[in-house]
Amino acid sequence: MPFSIINLKYRRMIAVFMDVRSQDKKAEDVEADVLVVGCFEPCGSVPDNLKALDSKAGGEIANHVSKDDFSGERKQWRSICAKGVAPGHIIVLGAGKKDKLDLEGLRKLAGFATRLARDKFSAKSVALQLSELEVKGSSKAERAQAVTEGAVLSDYRFDKYKTVDKDKRKVLESLVILTEEKDAVTKGKTLADCALFCRDLQDECPSNMTPEALAQKAKGLEKLGVKVTVFDKAACKKEGFEALLAVNRGSVNEPRMVVMEYDGKGSKKVALVGKGITFDSGGLDIKPADGMLTMKMDMSGAAVVLSTVKAAAELKLPIKLVGVFGATENMPGQNAYKQGDVVKAYNGKTIEIMHTDAEGRVVLADALSYTEAKLKPDVMIDLATLTGACVVALGSVCAGVMGKHQDIIDQLKSSGNSTGERVWQLPFWQEYHDMVKADFADVRNTGSVKRQAGAITAGTFLSNFVDKVPWAHIDIAGPAWSDKSNDYTGKGGTGFGVRLLIDFLENYK
Ligand code: BES
Ligand code: ZN
Ligand code: ZN
Repeated sequence: MPFSIINLKYRRMIAVFMDVRSQDKKAEDVEADVLVVGCFEPCGSVPDNLKALDSKAGGEIANHVSKDDFSGERKQWRSICAKGVAPGHIIVLGAGKKDKLDLEGLRKLAGFATRLARDKFSAKSVALQLSELEVKGSSKAERAQAVTEGAVLSDYRFDKYKTVDKDKRKVLESLVILTEEKDAVTKGKTLADCALFCRDLQDECPSNMTPEALAQKAKGLEKLGVKVTVFDKAACKKEGFEALLAVNRGSVNEPRMVVMEYDGKGSKKVALVGKGITFDSGGLDIKPADGMLTMKMDMSGAAVVLSTVKAAAELKLPIKLVGVFGATENMPGQNAYKQGDVVKAYNGKTIEIMHTDAEGRVVLADALSYTEAKLKPDVMIDLATLTGACVVALGSVCAGVMGKHQDIIDQLKSSGNSTGERVWQLPFWQEYHDMVKADFADVRNTGSVKRQAGAITAGTFLSNFVDKVPWAHIDIAGPAWSDKSNDYTGKGGTGFGVRLLIDFLENYK
């Protein structure tokens, strides 16, 4: 039937662009399939902001929430479907104890609520009245932003390659955040969208998301006024990116070095540098099958840098920002770089290749030294899925951060705590620097004591390619990817780092 075909197309279109907006309305005036309202534990009676709706609904809400079996504990919920009121279903959602709720808890609650409405209630439209839940030390705007982020992030699916039952899939078409903080909702949506853009890059097949394709994605930022320079293989040779070229030698796909420059006219220039290994097979030190399974995500550092530049440009942050990444596959082709090879990085220092699977730091050696020398930032931060050792140490709960400039690290920690994208500092003592001294070159690309301090020696290795600029290294190997669905992340890329970095940029002085 022509009508249903049009309808289907229309729905698909909306599914891609979920409409997100703020509304400064009372619960009783909200028109949505599902309205979610939060209440703290113990709940006992109807939350104040629902009293008018409750009386319209003939006391139905009071009936549900005053029962003994509803305490308002976190994620406990009751649904009410009452005649004569605007929302189709009203869900009262437990937020747990008041003194336990923080912004991250609110983000997660919003993600949970959105998926509940979409998946259990098949809602096409949902309204969230959650930012009224008090969080100690937070403003209304911060809460509205957190709710928006959690809701938008939770609705993500990477299903472009699914061909069956697509139309049976439950699709949310509109999301309303009930608040008067319109700008905070707009900002939350922009940030979440950029994190989802990052997830798209991470989740894409590695045979499609080649270095060239990733560079093309960076080129897409030109429409936002970002200056993008792409060095192809010939240009990399000319420029002297020998470390990047060495890692690339085992691959048939050519490498790229990419520089993105956003000028928001600030006095300070920040550089973000990312690891862009579009597939890490390990090279000649080939990985076992299990270890290779998720290695399409080894470009997450680059994806985060790209998506953060996009977010900074969209939010028109008043800073100068450069994003740089070296992109290549790490493959064991016939011409692959070998154990024992010595490679010269952009700053002239030589690297003895002890292990071809420690390739990310080799690529970063060029990217970091080029960025400092040519782009002259005031501060430099790199992000990389650099070591399995960092995952062993910290799991996927947070990223590892290290460096010698405590003020930058402290700012990153603080941004991590307010965005929920937390970082944990690892030590950076001289002993760890000594562990990367080489026999046949200046530095070796693995620590000298097997299996010891792997995340840190990767960091101390990188410090050899940073001269004077204040710098911090963030190892995102754990949190960049998720093997299970959480409240606002699914299986796959998480986009971890985009919100963290934007918060850092906003507060950097
Ligand atoms: N890309 C990996 C690190 C990684 C592991 C990221 C798991 C995400 C999840 C990196 O290139 C690597 O293989 N590192 C080696 C270094 C070792 C050979 C010194 C590692 O961590 O095992
Ligand atoms: Zn590797
Ligand atoms: Zn790697």
